[in-house]
Amino acid sequence: MDGAGMGEINSSYYKGKGARIYSDFKTYAHSGKLLAGANAKEFCEKFANSKETVLVAEFGVGNGKFACDFLVEVEKKDSALYAKTRYMLFDFSSKMLASARKTLGMRAEKCEFIAFDAAKEKLPKRFAGKINYARMNELLTDLPCEFYALQNKEVVEAEFGRHGEFSGFLGADAQETGLENAQGSGAGSGHGGSGGFADVAGGSGFENGGQEGGFLDAGVAGNAGDRNIIAGEFLSRIGENYIIPFNFVACEFVCELGGALAQGGIIDIFDYGFSNAADVQGVPAQMWNMNIVREFGGQLTTDLNVPLLCAFAKSHGLKVEVQGQKQYVENTLGKKVSIGETRYEKSAKGIGESDMFFHVRILA
Ligand SMILES: C[S@@+](CC[C@H](N)C(=O)[O-])C[C@H]1O[C@@H](n2cnc3c(N)ncnc32)[C@H](O)[C@@H]1O
Repeated sequence: MDGAGMGEINSSYYKGKGARIYSDFKTYAHSGKLLAGANAKEFCEKFANSKETVLVAEFGVGNGKFACDFLVEVEKKDSALYAKTRYMLFDFSSKMLASARKTLGMRAEKCEFIAFDAAKEKLPKRFAGKINYARMNELLTDLPCEFYALQNKEVVEAEFGRHGEFSGFLGADAQETGLENAQGSGAGSGHGGSGGFADVAGGSGFENGGQEGGFLDAGVAGNAGDRNIIAGEFLSRIGENYIIPFNFVACEFVCELGGALAQGGIIDIFDYGFSNAADVQGVPAQMWNMNIVREFGGQLTTDLNVPLLCAFAKSHGLKVEVQGQKQYVENTLGKKVSIGETRYEKSAKGIGESDMFFHVRILA
């Protein structure tokens, strides 16, 4: 399976299962109201004096609970703003959209449910320059993704089997790569290794757009056509034998969405991944490689390469801010929270749940 294969597997999974995905795994947004509450608080502060309709767009909406929790909170805080808010829900699974409509109940009247494949389609033209606030939770890490490693100073593309197990490098003999033991255990495995991610949510370096460790300069990311050069530049900062996800499809989608923001518009992205070279190097390569593609109930997911996303966004003239997700919620709501109840809760061994969850904010 290559990057596109992961997209096909996930497409069949989500379109077939709809909201039954929540028996395979939990997401933070689905498990509580804190993230939606933090978004709603900031939304009300920012758009309180808006005279016109305020357009919100959510992507990869699941069963609609993230949207519903947000709207309930906005209505409680500012009924005038609530009345002016229009909410667009985008998902490629019609079962998911039907479930979201049900979850939203009466609130569905201010919503539109739009069939949209973030990996394959362009945003409908009518949204160009119109989106005031876009949000998404755990969508980008499910999109098709390419995986590269440095082997004897050469960039090689890694392939995985149906269950997320490493199966070899394109055009190379896995027996000769030194990674022949990097077989993923698939279902239920999160990132292992003690302490590897321990400092991530602590806040170091995020103020710089998540680029502490200087992975990549923004100019390079502008040329998505030459992925091999981007991968080579990036991997040289990490070293040999680490299989690293390059979420190019996700980066392109986010940058296109950035171009559809209204003046002063914001995108809030919530996802798991890594934010700098140290996050990766803190875990031994073999352990890292075993867990870089993970299976949950037949669905495959990987990490978000946050520095890559930051570099792409900057090269498109967008501003980026990155912080730990827990830190974002605590700062916004002014109280201590914990990030439990996610697909990692049972699987991650030796790392804090919150350490790999990020909030990436993109500003027009
Ligand atoms: C992991 S679930 C997260 C759902 C919800 N945001 C939550 O936090 O509970 C991923 C969601 O993204 C949708 N999705 C996955 N790939 C997609 C794509 N290529 N285009 C649009 N939606 C996609 C799935 O149908 C699902 O609703």
